[in-house]
Order: sequence, then structure tokens, then C-alpha cells
Amino acid sequence: MKKIVDLISEDVKQAFASKGYEEKYGFVTLSNRPDLCQFQCNGALQAAKAYKKAPIIIAQEIADILKENARYKEITAIAPGFINITLSDEFLAGYLNGMRKEKDFGCEKEPNPMKIIIDYGGPNIAKPLHVGHMRSAVIGESLKRIFRFMGNEVIGDVHLGDWGTQMGLVIAELKRRKPDLVYFDDNYTGEYPEEAPFTLSELEEIYPAASAYSKENPEFREEAKKITYLMQNGHRGYMALWKHMQDVSVTDLKRIYERLNVSFELWKKESDAQPYIPDMVKYLKENGYARISDGALVVDVKEETDTKEIPPCMILKSDGATLYNTTDLATIVERMELFNPDQIIYITDKRQDLYFETIFRCARKTKLVNENTKLKFIGFGTMNGKDGKPFKTRDGGVLRLEYLIDMVTDEVYRKIMENRTMDEEEARKVAEKVGLAALKYGDLSNQISKDYIFDVDRFTSFEGNTGPYILYTIVRIKSILEKFKETGKTVNPGLEILEAQSDTERDLMLQITKFSDTIQGAYEEMAPHRICQYIYELSDKFSSFYHETKIISDEYDEKRQASLILLITLVQGILLTCIDLLGFTAPDRM
Ligand code: ARG
Repeated sequence: MKKIVDLISEDVKQAFASKGYEEKYGFVTLSNRPDLCQFQCNGALQAAKAYKKAPIIIAQEIADILKENARYKEITAIAPGFINITLSDEFLAGYLNGMRKEKDFGCEKEPNPMKIIIDYGGPNIAKPLHVGHMRSAVIGESLKRIFRFMGNEVIGDVHLGDWGTQMGLVIAELKRRKPDLVYFDDNYTGEYPEEAPFTLSELEEIYPAASAYSKENPEFREEAKKITYLMQNGHRGYMALWKHMQDVSVTDLKRIYERLNVSFELWKKESDAQPYIPDMVKYLKENGYARISDGALVVDVKEETDTKEIPPCMILKSDGATLYNTTDLATIVERMELFNPDQIIYITDKRQDLYFETIFRCARKTKLVNENTKLKFIGFGTMNGKDGKPFKTRDGGVLRLEYLIDMVTDEVYRKIMENRTMDEEEARKVAEKVGLAALKYGDLSNQISKDYIFDVDRFTSFEGNTGPYILYTIVRIKSILEKFKETGKTVNPGLEILEAQSDTERDLMLQITKFSDTIQGAYEEMAPHRICQYIYELSDKFSSFYHETKIISDEYDEKRQASLILLITLVQGILLTCIDLLGFTAPDRM
């Protein structure tokens, strides 16, 4: 279905053309004075310059033509030359009936669907998940759903960090604590045990301990480095431990991501890209892309137009070791080979901005990536505490992601129990859904690149611009629809949404028509916050309408009753679609 502003633009453009002006002046936007009109066209102001005429004269000419069109209830030319446009109620209702019958409410999809890989999540094995990983997961999941909704083929890859020095550190610490483990016996040739020699909570405690210890102990640091090197080069015992760490971590990661309603098509790891490195290095050397600098292998990526210093991209350290860079470039090679995507999108903290700029330049320059494949980095801001500083635990440590989820769901649970509308077990289940909505909406309602303040009280409030408020609206509609069902009446198939009978009903209807525009905007700008803003306004308009309109009543004739039911069903459907794009779900009651 065409977007409503486009339909109106077509009419206005035609009107301009019929008066001998260029069509382009008929461009229509949403009104920025909703108290005066629904849409506006400012083209007469521009046309006035080109045609050397008073703008109000042109505006009046156009208004006179449009007044004849039944689509419009009111068209006014306002000084100095605005054209104010208000739709007829009949046209508005007709548009809604169109939306109601179309798939996905008539949202126009991507005309040239792409194959897109989204690299998000990015947790590290053997290190606890923290809030930065949460933002990546929440934003990535939503973008993935939006891209998919628009008709693209999207593959989400968790891109596990399983190849860094943290692995060596954990193994070194384990060796210090339990030197007798068979993994450390170089003469051992038998099978290694199936069961890991540590539990998840031990593993989570080991990494911070090892990391702290290594800061004071250069010898230990060296040992960890050596172990990392040996592990990366196939040391049997270390590889076996590495495998154990993966198994223990991944099981837990999957559980947490499930709690976050986040899922990945691919569970690829940094180590999966390692086999691509030797050939890649050879290729870079043979084609003259790489040079030796202080013993290291680098690719220059500076460009003349740079205003800041862009360092060369290092491929191999002077000791031959690979880096985060090397892995990311090899992952690009791997992805091109396995999937040949049209686009790869990376979602991490915006502090990795320069890093990805370097990687992308290197991949482009050296043609590791197809000319037509786009590489895109989306950097998000920091989640801060109420003090405006990065969110920490009370004792100053990095906040574990699970504690964060618990904090929010516990607060929602407390609120539900305060009202005592359900038993504890149900309240727990509902709190999990509502808490997730609070957390995700609190995050996604901000522009991705901006820092924001994590505020449990505000995020979990059932009123205002919050996830719970949106869910509350959905639940309320659901209960009205159930009540209608209980009356034993039904909506006969041929019936339609009728013309609005009040201002609040009209406002609600107009807000519904902005669905496609919103989704397309969120897609093009990669901006889930636009969906949040839209559903917040939709919920608000619903609430005003609901407060002054009886939805179920014996006083209505069958047609009016059906119209109201169809209208709120449409609102509910749109809200459900939107929260699905944001990555959360609604409970049956709350
Ligand atoms: N594991 C990394 C981290 O914790 C994030 C990985 C992001 N993706 C990538 N392809 N580099 O910072």
C-alpha cells in the first residue's frame, strides 16, 4: 500500500502541474501544527521564487483545486503561503480498512532485498557477559527483525570471542590452582575426561582473579601468553580445556540470551576464522598490499582526505602472532566464502569506531570483500547510572548482565504484587515479560549512538514512555476484546471501520496510518527508537480515545459496534507487530 503522505503528495503534485508549475513543489509532510491541520505542503513558498509570484497566490490556486477532491475535508491557504491539509473522515476510514486487510498492514517492503549478516552480541568465552554485550544483543536483535520484516534475508551471528588472551589467562590460573590435572601432563596421550574440571561459577570467578593476578605478576603474564600461543597452535591439553570452557560458557550464554529473547542463526566463533588466516596473509603479501614495519606485517589505510591520524592495519605482530584485526579480516573472508552477503553490519560499543574504520578500509583496499558488499558499523553509546557514570555494581565492579535483568524483573514483580491481582507464580511469569519490555524499551527508545541513563524506577513505570505502558495498552485492548466476546456478539465479515465520530477517534486513526512511514524510516535509518516513539504516541492516542469512548455498548447499532471493535483490533495488531520488531512480547494480563 502506498504511504498516506505519498498519496496526498500525488494529489498535490498533480494540482501544481495542472497550474503549470513544476510537480516537485507538491511535496507533502506531516503537519507541524497538528492543532490546525493533519498535513501540510510548503511548496508554494519555493515555487514563488521560481515563478516570481506571491506565494499566497500560488497556495490559493492549489487549495482551490484540492477542495474539489473528496479525499479532503479542509484545505486552506495560509499566509505567507502554506497549504494546510485535513483528510476527509471517509478517506481516513477507507485507508484503515485497506491496512486492516493487507499483509503486514500494507507496509511496502524493500524493492531489492539483500542478504545481510549482522554481527552482534559478541560475548567472550570464560568472561562474564556485561552490559555492553546487552546493548549489542538488544539493538542487534531489533535491527535483525526490522531488516527481516522489510523482506531481506538476515543472518545473525553471535561471533563468540574464544581466541583471545583471556583463554590463556584462565588456563594459566587453573594450572596454578590444580597443577596435577591431566591436561598439564605433556606426556599424557590418552583421552581427556568428558566433564570439565570446573563449574560455570568457578569459571566466572577464575577470569577476574587471573586478570588481577597477572597485573602484579609479570611472570604469570608471560606464562599466560605462552599458553595462549600454544593453545592457538594446537597444544592437546590446552585445546581440551579450551573446548571445556566453550561448552560450559555456551550453555550458559544460550540460557541468558533466551531470557533476553535474543537468538542467533549462527554461533560462529573467532577461532572458526583461523584456518583462513594463512592464505589471507599470503594473498596480502603476494599482491603487494602488506608491508613490513618494525618486523610487523601491516597494510596502510591512510587516505588523503583524513583529518585525523589513521594508523596502519596490523595483520601480524613482529613475533608472528595474530590479533583481533587479523581475526576480523579473516572472518570477512570466511563470510564472503560461505554466504557472499550484500552487507555485513557490526554492532558494538562506539569506542570500536576507529577500529572498524581501519578494518573496513583494509578489507576494501585489499579486495578481501566484494566491491558491492557494504560494510557498516553501528556504534552504541554507554549505559550510565543515575550519577551519569558507566553503570557499575555497588562495589564498583562490572555489572553482570543477569543481575541487571533480575533487578528489573524484581522491581516489576514488586509492583505487580502491590496491586495483588494475581498469585505469586503468575506474577513471576508476567514480571519476566514486563521486565524484559522495560529493559529493552528503556534501551531502544534512545538513539543508538547516544549514552543513556539506566533508571529502574522510570523504566518499570506503568505510565509514561516505557515498555510496561505499551504492554499495558495491549493488555487493556485484549481484555476489551474478551469482554466483547463474552457478550456473545461477533463482527460480521463484511463490516468495516467507519468514519471517526470524535476528535480522539480521528487522532487515533491518523496515528495508525503512520505505521508504514515509521517502519520504513526505522529501517532506512537503522533506528528502532522511531518505532518506540510511534507506539508511545499510538498508545497515548488510544488511551485518550478509550477514556472518552465506550467501546462496548448496547446503544450502538451493529455497524458502529463492529467499527469500534475492528479499530481497536487494528491498534492491537500494530502494537504487537511493533513490539515483536523491538524484540519483546506481551503477557495476557498484568
Ligand atoms: N568480543 C568483542 C568484545 O567483547 C566484540 C566482538 C564484536 N564483533 C567483531 N566482529 N569484532 O568486545
